Amino acid sequence: MRGRIPENVLDDILSRVDIVELISAYIPLKKAGRNFRACCPFHNEKTPSFMVSPDKQIYHCFGCGESGNAFKFLMRHERMEFTEAVELLARRCGVIIPQLSADRNAEGVNAQIFKANELAAGFFSARLFSTAGKAALAYLQERGLRREILESARVGLAPDSWDGLISFMRGKGISLSLLDKSGLITPRQGGGYYDRFRNRIMFPISDARSRILGFGGRVYSADDKGVKYINSPETAVYTKGRNLYGLNLSKDAVRKKDCAVVVEGYLDFLIPYQEGVDNLVASQGTALTEEQIRLLKRYASGVVIIYDGDKAGESAALRALELFIEEGINVRVAVLPQGDDPDTFVRREGPEAFRGLIDGAKEIFDYKLGVLKSRHNVSAVAGKDAVAAEMLSIISKFHSAVVRSEYLRVLAGEINVPEEALLEELNKIKSGRKEGRRTGQEKQGPSREMEAVLPAEKLLIQLMLQENELISRIRDSLDPSDFQSRTAGQIVRTMFELSAQGVCVGAGMIMNHLEGSGISGIVCDPVLSSEDVSSEEREKMASDCVKRIKMHNMNNRRRCLHQQIKDAQVSGDRVKLDGLLKEFNTLIQSCKG
Ligand code: CTP
Ligand code: MN
Repeated sequence: MRGRIPENVLDDILSRVDIVELISAYIPLKKAGRNFRACCPFHNEKTPSFMVSPDKQIYHCFGCGESGNAFKFLMRHERMEFTEAVELLARRCGVIIPQLSADRNAEGVNAQIFKANELAAGFFSARLFSTAGKAALAYLQERGLRREILESARVGLAPDSWDGLISFMRGKGISLSLLDKSGLITPRQGGGYYDRFRNRIMFPISDARSRILGFGGRVYSADDKGVKYINSPETAVYTKGRNLYGLNLSKDAVRKKDCAVVVEGYLDFLIPYQEGVDNLVASQGTALTEEQIRLLKRYASGVVIIYDGDKAGESAALRALELFIEEGINVRVAVLPQGDDPDTFVRREGPEAFRGLIDGAKEIFDYKLGVLKSRHNVSAVAGKDAVAAEMLSIISKFHSAVVRSEYLRVLAGEINVPEEALLEELNKIKSGRKEGRRTGQEKQGPSREMEAVLPAEKLLIQLMLQENELISRIRDSLDPSDFQSRTAGQIVRTMFELSAQGVCVGAGMIMNHLEGSGISGIVCDPVLSSEDVSSEEREKMASDCVKRIKMHNMNNRRRCLHQQIKDAQVSGDRVKLDGLLKEFNTLIQSCKG
């Protein structure tokens, strides 16, 4: 499920790593009974509510609800990717990840592409600062870029020839096939290749670790009739929309300020950055993609989007903003004067004015409301309706009920509509969304409340985690589909499968196998502490839980049958009624038994 690393290897790593040791390298842990306690590193607090359990090999914060296993801790605390966290811990405890060595080939290709790109960037950069680059350098200087930024962003120049790069690379022993894989050359009709980028200013596009993924190339001479920008094609390491230009230079500032300013183009990044606005990234095109938003989320919880004056109000762009709210990122919008982009604005008005613009950026709610009010007449009914519909769609995306109710209040005042009417509409949107989600899910009884977890379900799962011997016994008496909560059912199914393979199942491991918001709430949020419960008591509690879960199911089934019987009576369907009554009787009998 998690891609290329097999689950048993992940489990192996988790069983060898000690989460207490791991976490205590980052924050001081104090012993508290069987567990360890600290102030939570994921939210601000004075009294410690962050617990680390050596038994379960998980952490859990009772303050903010953050919880997980060793991998998750590194992902959250060190902002690592899942595979990075796994690799680090694997190295630490001496586990070899087999898939990685099988994948060595693919890994090797990526490394080779990075190497080819690196060589190319060096070649282009040297060219820019050579006599051959005089005109290009003059153009860049004319645009206000100084040598220092050109060097740190590794801006360069591709030679004005069909095979300048090809022959340079030949001298370095780089094959045509690798250049092709790197997207640096294009096949020629009738055989052979030529340089993809010719006589263009080259902007290397890097990942956060400064590995070069690809390039953007811009024409610079007035009589060059080519398209303004061409980019690397998709390669094994480069996909358009998956990276943020400049993040390798700005990531520390973005992290420190907990805010990223998002601009559009290479120059829009380079000019303000050079002038000291250092928490910037460029999306390299208009609308931000989901991947870019997730990437940003690893570095900051706030984002300011800068829109060109003439693009403000574009509905497509507005919709992209809603993605941020869904990801829980605080997004604000700053609008430039008509005809400006960040590059021209900073050069004319200076970095202080630009900072002022960023500081004065509007909350997305205010921004969108402003745009809509300028488009619709809110004293007319149709205008009110249109604005309400659009604004409610945004409001519904905020996770906090407090925020939603505050925005409802403001909106009601702004369009002069009673708050209750807006609330009613909002609830329609929210329930509509839920319905939409439900269709397409596996079949479930109609009256079944799917997500609520019964206390007995939660307790039973925790008992099984504390005492693995219980698992096989429970498997004989309950099926995962007997659980009312889908999430609980998934957890139980996974436990059954793992224990059938003879694996020792723990909470951390479950979180490893399953992803989803409800998982940790069920496995980590303890219903009872494992300390003072004996094995026998646990067994008794478990069979009690089984009974309660079965009883709950029967009651559900009975209610459902009852309704069907009533319907059959009304419609006078004798055959159906007989069948249902029979079923009802059997059910009642088994309840007694
Ligand atoms: N862009 C791109 N590929 C294209 C066109 C544009 O990646 N084919 C990205 C580049 O990052 C570019 C940005 O979009 O910097 C803005 O492009 P455009 O609006 O054409 O830039 P201008 O501001 O007109 O020109 P300049 O970049 O020289 O300021
Ligand atoms: Mn521009």
